[in-house]
Amino acid sequence: MVPTALLACAAVAGFKAGGLELLGQTTTANGYAPSSIPCPSILPTVRAASGLSSQEKSWLALRRNNSLPALVNVLERANLTGFDATAYLRGAADNDTMLPKIGIAVSGGGYRALMNGAGALAAFDSRTPNATGPGQLGGLLQAATYLSGLSGGSWLVGSLYQQNFTSVASILSATGGSLSQLWQFNESILDGPATLSTTKYYRQLFDSVETKEDAGFNTSITDYWGRALSYQLFNATDGGGGEGYTFSSVANDTEFASAQAPMPILVAVERSPGQLAILGNSTVFEFNPWEMGSYDPGAAAFAPLRFVGSAFENGTLPSGRQCMGNVDNVGFVVGTSSSLFNQAFLQISKVEGVPDFLINAINATLARLSGGEEDIASWPNPFYHYGTAHNLNANSTVLTLVDGGEDLQNIPLHPLTLSYREVDVIIAVDSSADTASHWPNGTAMVATYQRSATFPSTNSAGFPIVPDQNTFINLGLNTRPTFFGCNADNMTTPGPLVVYLPNSPYSFLSNVSTFDLEYTNEERDQIVQNGYNVATMGNASADPAWSACLGCAVLSRSMNRTQTQPPAICLDCFSRYCWDGTVNATTPAPYEPTPAIAQPSPSSSPSSSSGGRRSSPVVVGCAAAMLCVLLIST
Ligand SMILES: *[C@@H]1O[C@H](CO)[C@@H](O)[C@H](O)[C@H]1NC(C)=O
Ligand SMILES: *[C@@H]1O[C@H](CO)[C@@H](O)[C@H](O)[C@H]1NC(C)=O
Ligand SMILES: *[C@@H]1O[C@H](CO)[C@@H](O)[C@H](O)[C@H]1NC(C)=O
Ligand SMILES: *[C@@H]1O[C@H](CO)[C@@H](O)[C@H](O)[C@H]1NC(C)=O
Ligand SMILES: *[C@@H]1O[C@H](CO)[C@@H](O)[C@H](O)[C@H]1NC(C)=O
Ligand SMILES: *[C@@H]1O[C@H](CO)[C@@H](O)[C@H](O)[C@H]1NC(C)=O
Ligand SMILES: *[C@@H]1O[C@H](CO)[C@@H](O)[C@H](O)[C@H]1NC(C)=O
Ligand SMILES: *[C@@H]1O[C@H](CO)[C@@H](O)[C@H](O)[C@H]1NC(C)=O
Ligand SMILES: *[C@@H]1O[C@H](CO)[C@@H](O)[C@H](O)[C@H]1NC(C)=O
Ligand SMILES: *[C@@H]1O[C@H](CO)[C@@H](O)[C@H](O)[C@H]1NC(C)=O
Ligand SMILES: *[C@@H]1O[C@H](CO)[C@@H](O)[C@H](O)[C@H]1NC(C)=O
Ligand SMILES: *[C@@H]1O[C@H](CO)[C@@H](O)[C@H](O)[C@H]1NC(C)=O
Repeated sequence: MVPTALLACAAVAGFKAGGLELLGQTTTANGYAPSSIPCPSILPTVRAASGLSSQEKSWLALRRNNSLPALVNVLERANLTGFDATAYLRGAADNDTMLPKIGIAVSGGGYRALMNGAGALAAFDSRTPNATGPGQLGGLLQAATYLSGLSGGSWLVGSLYQQNFTSVASILSATGGSLSQLWQFNESILDGPATLSTTKYYRQLFDSVETKEDAGFNTSITDYWGRALSYQLFNATDGGGGEGYTFSSVANDTEFASAQAPMPILVAVERSPGQLAILGNSTVFEFNPWEMGSYDPGAAAFAPLRFVGSAFENGTLPSGRQCMGNVDNVGFVVGTSSSLFNQAFLQISKVEGVPDFLINAINATLARLSGGEEDIASWPNPFYHYGTAHNLNANSTVLTLVDGGEDLQNIPLHPLTLSYREVDVIIAVDSSADTASHWPNGTAMVATYQRSATFPSTNSAGFPIVPDQNTFINLGLNTRPTFFGCNADNMTTPGPLVVYLPNSPYSFLSNVSTFDLEYTNEERDQIVQNGYNVATMGNASADPAWSACLGCAVLSRSMNRTQTQPPAICLDCFSRYCWDGTVNATTPAPYEPTPAIAQPSPSSSPSSSSGGRRSSPVVVGCAAAMLCVLLIST
């Protein structure tokens, strides 16, 4: 249960910098290569992580004006009998003590996590057809302040934001135009999109990564992996797989800049030079549209994302150094967050027809690393010689980041428990494959709880006590929504209430293997639909009061601060959904749930493997035993 993951590791050398970036939908002349960009008149600098960025603070001031009316709307519909939510929240219009702050976290777990997470986001999105009907939850997304994504969850979040915060429903229902080219998982990532010949696809992967090397930057398999993902997530039809898109460009997109969408946060963890293990005190890095860095003591600094490739020294750019952009290519960012899939991507060398130049190039990136480092992403280190006393990575010009789930915190809760962010409720969408049959068992919750208990940090809010995984299964806490931390007074350090939403079968067996890399559009839509059912409890069929109960969870901390007695309906909800501290740690029987709602097409159960789908036999290729364990569980 100790969230310790042994992973071989070592230093990698070399760096430079570069780039050009424009709006999310715009390709730079340079494609993937970093290149110099004009420096702003006030040169970019690194900052100490002693509070939120000025950009985030200004944005929050805008966001509350949009999130509050959305929340009023959701709560009106939630029918909190005996409680006038509208009147209550009127007081929050100019009073942050009353305003409930919502964060949504979408876990890792490859395509399964993207699809299950997409179902939850669709359920929370007022733009989804029917999501604002009775008993529905549409509008919670509009009411949320933060949306974090990790690994497969980062693919979902990154994909939506790179399209100006389009909706899940718009992507799935697009029948023509370029949105309809996204999320085509029937075209294996190992073969490329239908709109491009396979030969051209391989050539483009090779060429774009080569341009980054030519610009003087380190590359690893993560670069190829991120490039390949980009065709499925960002743009398959612009001739280069969205190769010029940067994550920092989201800061300029209409929907985000005008605070019509929550703030996206993508997560990775650091494995610093020479570090052999990813411990429970891992340095968790976040990427948001303005910055990348970490609030944890191992780095405790942030760099402006757009300029992250510039050769900073002690936090500033020595005179004469250029501002370098385009290092924060969005494919590279989500590739970093999901770098465990580098192992799966290695299967490309077994695909017939993959040209030698591509395999040689991939092999060459491996040859530069020690064994067990297949999963790293090599970033230029903007924190070089910065804050030497605390910065564990102060003397390296490279920053090596890996999959956000490698410290077993597979739900990106960490950025949402930052005390400065004052989040009141986290809706935690867990698509982890913990059990033998690929369902979650609470491991990600346990990991974050143990970290908070073992390595308390002044920057971190408290995290609710959660039980062991056996208890999760024995009490069915992994089959239905469960609230943790209901009693604010029972927490030693103030922190959010967590609404845990585990993937479980309602209408479809969505427990597909993390390394199934191909899905028909029908399977995709069924898994998304199941995720929608998980979030809405089968359109409230499993509990007509579910939307009210979720509303109570959202209001709970605010009511505690204003010393407002929760209405009877909330007390009833809390008695049914709050974990009451009961533990049953006996070893459970194998967990093999069946769908609550009859399956539409029994023949297409995706849990039995293969059958035409390209399932990567990644376990065979595991470099280290522990990596295999991680690959199976994230
Ligand atoms: C993005 O916005 C920032 C300030 O918010 C501005 O300095 C920058 O020029 C903008 N970039 C583009 C490409 O419009
Ligand atoms: C609201 O809840 C009350 C009882 O809790 C019920 O009688 C009423 O029908 C509900 N209204 C709607 C619109 O669901
Ligand atoms: C919306 O609800 C109506 C009425 O229940 C139903 O006919 C329709 O199929 C639903 N649309 C979607 C997209 O679910
Ligand atoms: C982004 O979406 C909003 C809302 O749909 C729209 O008003 C705006 O024009 C879009 N911006 C771009 C650049 O597409
Ligand atoms: C992809 O790029 C093309 C060409 O730049 C553009 O017309 C299209 O809107 C983009 N599609 C998506 C989904 O971003
Ligand atoms: C984590 O803890 C270990 C052992 O206490 C310590 O050596 C290491 O420096 C810590 N790592 C970070 C990133 O704080
Ligand atoms: C780094 O910069 C700080 C001021 O920002 C300065 O106090 C310190 O001496 C500098 N360290 C080095 C090694 O240059
Ligand atoms: C690439 O590396 C793999 C695994 O080490 C090896 O089997 C393969 O022969 C290499 N391919 C080339 C073209 O060098
Ligand atoms: C970095 O180098 C400086 C100067 O040699 C040294 O004082 C410091 O301890 C080193 N920091 C780390 C994290 O190794
Ligand atoms: C829970 O999941 C972890 C992996 O995340 C696994 O090692 C453990 O065996 C699982 N326990 C149960 C009871 O399923
Ligand atoms: C904000 O609300 C709290 C709790 O109801 C109250 O104590 C405080 O006085 C209010 N602040 C302002 C400025 O109205
Ligand atoms: C309340 O706190 C106690 C002591 O810290 C703990 O044992 C108990 O499990 C907590 N109850 C809940 C429901 O979290």
